Amino acid sequence: MNLKLIYVSVLMFGIAGLFLFMYLQDWIEEQHTVSEEKLYQTINQDSTFYATEESETVPKNWTSARKLSKPSKTIIEREHSQRDADPFLGMGSFSTTGLSKYSQKIKSFHKYFKHVNILPAVHSLKNYFIRDDQWKHAEQVQKNRRLLLFEFCRKYIGEHRAQSHLVRMVSRIYVEDKYKLLYCEVPKAGCSNWKRVLMVLGGLAKSTANITHNAVHYGKHLQKLDSYDTKGIYLRLKTYTKVIFVRDPMERLVSAFRDKFEHPNSYYHPVFGKAIIKKYRLNADSKALKTGSGVTFKEFIQYLLDSHRPVGMDTHWEQISRLCYPCAINYDFIGKFETLEEDANHFLKLLGAPKGLAFPNFKDRHSTDRRTNADVVKQYLSEIPASDRQQIYDFYYLDYLMFNYTVPYAWP
Ligand SMILES: *[C@@H]1O[C@H](CO)[C@@H](O)[C@H](O)[C@H]1NC(C)=O
Ligand SMILES: *[C@@H]1O[C@H](CO)[C@@H](O)[C@H](O)[C@H]1NC(C)=O
Ligand SMILES: *[C@@H]1O[C@H](CO)[C@@H](O)[C@H](O)[C@H]1NC(C)=O
Repeated sequence: MNLKLIYVSVLMFGIAGLFLFMYLQDWIEEQHTVSEEKLYQTINQDSTFYATEESETVPKNWTSARKLSKPSKTIIEREHSQRDADPFLGMGSFSTTGLSKYSQKIKSFHKYFKHVNILPAVHSLKNYFIRDDQWKHAEQVQKNRRLLLFEFCRKYIGEHRAQSHLVRMVSRIYVEDKYKLLYCEVPKAGCSNWKRVLMVLGGLAKSTANITHNAVHYGKHLQKLDSYDTKGIYLRLKTYTKVIFVRDPMERLVSAFRDKFEHPNSYYHPVFGKAIIKKYRLNADSKALKTGSGVTFKEFIQYLLDSHRPVGMDTHWEQISRLCYPCAINYDFIGKFETLEEDANHFLKLLGAPKGLAFPNFKDRHSTDRRTNADVVKQYLSEIPASDRQQIYDFYYLDYLMFNYTVPYAWP
């Protein structure tokens, strides 16, 4: 009898504990869920005042402020504050919401920063501009890219109030504390070489030349932003230089397919290949079913466009909009794979990187393969029906619009 009572009470305690645990987990999740606009708002606040929800410098109804649809005024104001501000800081210059009082505050905030000079990298960048106008064109290109993204997000986010975990939103971002740099990794857009550069900047390697592919991707040398606590994440988002490199969506997709499925691969073949062949290949032979090797581009696209995919997505073909949240995190520098070396070296100059450090141009995997370029992409896309090409475009729609990619391949 006594024993039974003890047994029951232990059981009750156990269950109560479990409920408490579940409740706490829910509560913690809630605390870290943030909408894209909220994150954007927070990043662009006065950085001396961390994560205040009710800061008076931020308009309460940000969506409605952005929806006021006074685009011309907004642009003029932003252009203005951009000229006043450091050209590279990006902060503030993009948080103008059309409320003049607010932009006034931003401007004084930038003036304050110029005096205090707490961002040495940004400062050296400015001197560089005064001395040299060789890069004027490059900076104009940057301005255009940021403006286009900003205008797109202003319209888009106002209508789609996406929510996500703060930790998830920053989970693809690498941190380099010495140069106060945040790099959002987009696979198949030069990320291996970027990681090499980060390792050299951080003093983890002397030169990019000797860092192997495995050391880059599995060495765990680089710190991710999601490894910091909330305060550390916000602090870095607000004060560090944020950079992203993007690529034409179709090229990126074809490049990912070639890399992962046209060469032996001990992860992609068994995990993705097997599931893809099993679901989409009629009369698949037992060898293909067992190894998962030999997936065709057509089968891969069937998987990609299937709303009931047999296996999940992968960062190599995930949309950039879902990897790096470009509407929430206002990247200071938007580089493109199509002009990778030029953009990357421009950026390294702006950052004040050591003179000897140039962006490496080697392709470290399957280096004998032809690089995925427009002709190669055309060839792959000719293997699939036009309706599929249209659907791929729809799938990467946000990436196309955010980064001003045109659609040369989607149509027959
Ligand atoms: C914000 O603005 C929108 C559009 O003007 C309006 O519908 C909404 O009620 C406002 N929200 C708050 C909290 O004022
Ligand atoms: C977008 O791309 C088109 C075509 O490539 C180009 O003409 C235009 O200048 C670009 N727009 C911006 C803002 O960069
Ligand atoms: C790369 O490594 C080799 C041997 O480990 C060394 O001899 C060479 O100097 C290194 N190159 C650079 C650029 O560090």
